[in-house]
Amino acid sequence: MKHLVDAWALLTRSERWRAFAVMVLTLFGAAAEALGIGLVFPFISLLGDPGPIVANPLFQTVYAASGAPSLEKFVLIGAVALIGVYVAKNLFLGFLYFMQARFVCGVEARLGTDLLAMYLRSPYVARLQRNSTEQLRMITAEVGRATAGFILPVVALLTEGLVVLAIAILLFAVQPKVTLAALCFVGVTGWVLQRGFKRKLGEEREARSRSNIDMFKWAGQGMGALKEMKVLGREDHFVSGFARSSAIYARATGIFNAISLLPRLVVETLAITVLLSLVALALATEQRMDQLLPMLTLFGLAAARIMPSTARIVGATSTIRYYASSVAAVAADLTQADPQAARTPGAHGTRPRRAFERLELANVFFRYPGAADDGLKGVTLAIRRGEMVAVVGRSGSGKTTLGDTILGLLAPQRGSVRINGAEVASLHDEWPGLCALVPQDFFLLDDTVRRNVAFGIPDEAIDDARVWQALRAARVEARVQRLPEGLDSLVGERGAMLSGGERQRLSIARALYDAPDILVLDEATSALDPSTESEILDTLESLAGSTTVVLITHRLAAAQKCGRIILMQAGAVVRDGPTAGADMGQVLDALVETDSASRATRA
Ligand SMILES: Nc1ncnc2c1ncn2[C@@H]1O[C@H](COP(=O)(O)OP(=O)(O)OP(=O)(O)O)[C@@H](O)[C@H]1O
Ligand SMILES: [Mg+2]
Repeated sequence: MKHLVDAWALLTRSERWRAFAVMVLTLFGAAAEALGIGLVFPFISLLGDPGPIVANPLFQTVYAASGAPSLEKFVLIGAVALIGVYVAKNLFLGFLYFMQARFVCGVEARLGTDLLAMYLRSPYVARLQRNSTEQLRMITAEVGRATAGFILPVVALLTEGLVVLAIAILLFAVQPKVTLAALCFVGVTGWVLQRGFKRKLGEEREARSRSNIDMFKWAGQGMGALKEMKVLGREDHFVSGFARSSAIYARATGIFNAISLLPRLVVETLAITVLLSLVALALATEQRMDQLLPMLTLFGLAAARIMPSTARIVGATSTIRYYASSVAAVAADLTQADPQAARTPGAHGTRPRRAFERLELANVFFRYPGAADDGLKGVTLAIRRGEMVAVVGRSGSGKTTLGDTILGLLAPQRGSVRINGAEVASLHDEWPGLCALVPQDFFLLDDTVRRNVAFGIPDEAIDDARVWQALRAARVEARVQRLPEGLDSLVGERGAMLSGGERQRLSIARALYDAPDILVLDEATSALDPSTESEILDTLESLAGSTTVVLITHRLAAAQKCGRIILMQAGAVVRDGPTAGADMGQVLDALVETDSASRATRA
């Protein structure tokens, strides 16, 4: 019940109306099923022993209305009408199943989209607290489980439950005692089966779920670390890990499925028992067989219809148990989100750009969620339009954290970040195109060069001239010109078809495409040779005046290209001033740990 409430809460208003409509249709479906079976009874009776039927006043009305010249002709008309009823009923049921599936799939698509929108639009800090593979799994797997694994089985349970109920009512009306006895039998066996296998089913379900997660981990991590794995020759470790998990999965699934099939066998046994008992009863009471025929047909048809229903009900019940937790997981993620985040599209590109003058950080403190120490400790600095600033410091001193704070990705717990003197709540909404970043761990799309540079811009809005211009500035134009399909060339998964340095320059071109006011480069030239690096820095220098560059680097040569050096140590700025006259010994000290080149220089 709790999961049902959760699932209901997941639906939007219009989806709830559609759910309601589907339920009403389902009710009609069940009635149609019962009607189909029920009509066979009088029909067969007419064939066997018409006496009692003909005496029925309702029959007489129908008979008279049909205008049939004889009872034989009427039976013929009846047969055709019955076929018509079945065709109509099954057309309706086909429509019903389609509507049900469409409803559930629609909910699935909408939930996945909302989740993705929420993950992408929520603040960057949220991402630090969540594993991205886990979020990916929420969208691709959990949403499907919550819908196809929960909502759809609930719909199926409702549908089949109503069918069985309708047929049971019909049978009860015709043969109360036998039906009651059969229902008791089903109830008792069902209860015994459920008691007997409950623990086993629970265990297997648990084992299946655990081993399935392990399978994903072995396969995913093996492929993720492919290069290291091959060099170290550790393929077997991952393959055998996967084999162990999938063996457990296979065994658990086998047992699980076998147990799930039991109820069908029970119902079948019951059906044949009831049918033959009816015959035995008739023989014992010396009833005529042609009187018994309609009854047998009715029970036979009912059994034939109930059997698949039972299978579906049992299947749906165990699926619901298995996947109910997914509903809670999806609900938890969707409800914890800022409700606006999932729906309002980003305003990027829709507002006029303003002139950037000045960025100020005043006594900024930032601590990563769950961290024991502050990442930034009282940072105060100002960067003016057109400046080119180097940020140096040892690994872990807080350079990336500072860059992310400048960009508004991380919101400080204390202190303020102001642009043109005003605090900015959401950089990318209020200042579209203000900033660009070349991250330390950039990510290329498995797509064309063009779409990698003009990142996230619809094809029709991409300006090829600007793409080329960005490629030229990033010193990768010549390489792209040599590619067989130019801008349309694919770069492979994470840019696997390019060299490390080419990948990095593509990521620089991406940052330059929008001609940002503030450009943060986080170790953006680490994979480049000194002369290419120097060329790129020259380009950046030529942008100075319009573009403000914050260059996070471990290289002395790069830092010296900038007019100003900010030195970070343990989250604090320990030096901030012009490059000329800087105590290079101190700067080198900060770099020495990670840059062997500068170590050589110092020596
Ligand atoms: N998500 C996080 N959660 C907790 N601590 C973090 C997180 N990210 C970084 N840190 C810590 O914050 C400190 C500053 O990290 P930061 O990435 O800013 O260093 P950095 O100067 O860029 O180093 P590098 O030169 O190695 O890139 C480090 O001690 C790091 O371990
Ligand atoms: Mg860093």
